[in-house]
Amino acid sequence: MADKKFKRIGVLTSGGDAPGMNAAVRSVVRTAIQNGVEVMGIIGGYRGLVENDMKLLDARDVANIINHGGTMLFTDRCLEFKEESGLQKAVATCRENKIDGLVCIGGDGTFRGAQDLTRRGIPCIGIPGTIDNDISATDYTIGYDTAMNTVVDLVDKLRDTCESHARCNVVEVMGRNAGYIAINTGLATGAVGIAIEEFPFDLDGTIEKMKELKKAKKRNFIVIVSEAFGNEYSENLAKRIEKETEIETKFARLAHVQRGGRPTLRDRELASLMGYKAVELLLDGKSNLVVCIRDEVICGIDIEYALTYDKLCKGKIKAEDITGYSQEQVAKMVADAKIREDRMRTSYEIASKISI
Ligand code: F6P
Repeated sequence: MADKKFKRIGVLTSGGDAPGMNAAVRSVVRTAIQNGVEVMGIIGGYRGLVENDMKLLDARDVANIINHGGTMLFTDRCLEFKEESGLQKAVATCRENKIDGLVCIGGDGTFRGAQDLTRRGIPCIGIPGTIDNDISATDYTIGYDTAMNTVVDLVDKLRDTCESHARCNVVEVMGRNAGYIAINTGLATGAVGIAIEEFPFDLDGTIEKMKELKKAKKRNFIVIVSEAFGNEYSENLAKRIEKETEIETKFARLAHVQRGGRPTLRDRELASLMGYKAVELLLDGKSNLVVCIRDEVICGIDIEYALTYDKLCKGKIKAEDITGYSQEQVAKMVADAKIREDRMRTSYEIASKISI
């Protein structure tokens, strides 16, 4: 796959960290080295490019990190990089350090940065690393599986004590505006209610169900709430449930614990495959792509397409307002978005139906 053009590439992690980012960095470094290409590890995301902070990595530098959460390259949300002056500094840093291309690991903000750099002559490939799973072009993002397993582990513990005391626990989980973590952990922990932004939450129905279940001698109740509603919502929800059901209700915000810890097998596997693919694409002369997994196939998708499709999935743009794509492409986006929504809705409905 090695194109003679590439002698040295850079790799960075940007935005919120996610378990499995290290495994992706390891894969990128070792795939490049196997192809005779050097790798610069950029420190602290795009800030490392703006401030020229980086180090050459060899295969041993990325040893013993596949099993570690966090990111050995550190991360940041760099505001200066969003300005033209910051971008120009980043381009100059790449030129100065003879970096011929970049692999950028992170979420949608990271991909916008990768797109900006590609447009200014530095070819970039993105890898989706975020616990939120909110990159619609890919079925899974790195870190999502680990975060969900962390939530399940913690909620199982809460359930033990709820059962002993006949209590309810309202648990707020991360995901930004996306309800993926909430739905799937709700399903996996047998939650009696799941509140997410995507579908209307039937609070009155949930309260009635809890009263009935209490009469039927159910002792533990878990309600999972997405952080999308804001802090007050989930805390008030706990108070309201306690008042109306007369079941003592505790509140837990799991917060950043969801972002740490040993990555699961699934995340290590995904990160390793995506890291390999990113370098393969870059050395093949491709750029401005995000590596995705769709129906178990690892592929590269144009970043602009991925960001437009993401907006469509999140209802931020209507199909008729999409420009720059053929009718067939827009129709495909609409069809794919429907499949994605249907999958989510099915899980949501099944979770509700079987929590009796
Ligand atoms: O995007 C990952 C995420 O953990 C979100 O789930 C959450 O809303 C946000 O980052 C928290 O960001 P910060 O690390 O700045 O507190």
